[in-house]
Amino acid sequence: MKIAIGNDHAAFEMKNEIKAYLEGKGYEVLNLGCDSGDRVDYPDYAEKIGKAVVSGEADLGIAICGTGVGMSIAINKIRGIRAVCCSEPYSAKLSRMHNDSNVLCFGARVIGPELAKMIVDEWLGASFMGEHHIARVDKIRALENR
Ligand code: RB5
Repeated sequence: MKIAIGNDHAAFEMKNEIKAYLEGKGYEVLNLGCDSGDRVDYPDYAEKIGKAVVSGEADLGIAICGTGVGMSIAINKIRGIRAVCCSEPYSAKLSRMHNDSNVLCFGARVIGPELAKMIVDEWLGASFMGEHHIARVDKIRALENR
């Protein structure tokens, strides 16, 4: 599985830690930057991550900024993206199972790396349940066309 990962200046150290963690578990990771603490604008990186996911270049995406909020707002503007901003593992897991989320966002200024790894594990370990959730996700897709 290939995971696109990106971040702004507030989260490049967290990104490096999560990237190494994922690679250690055998995932292929597409690093879309940024890679320093020089100030950047998170929507630029949200766009790169979102486009990698909807094009199929990556299977899933992880977007990290200071709070995770800016990244999640921006990336959810991209058609086909269902991004979730999580600070705990339960919502991360359920977002895959019920909402078929395809991008995980979190805040490097909100949670520490060990909790982030737990959230990532729960998110990647879960899969879409289908069943009655299919119609609901289809209604989310329909909103993109209205
Ligand atoms: C950057 O200072 C900060 O605004 C950004 O990382 C993020 O938290 C935005 O939502």
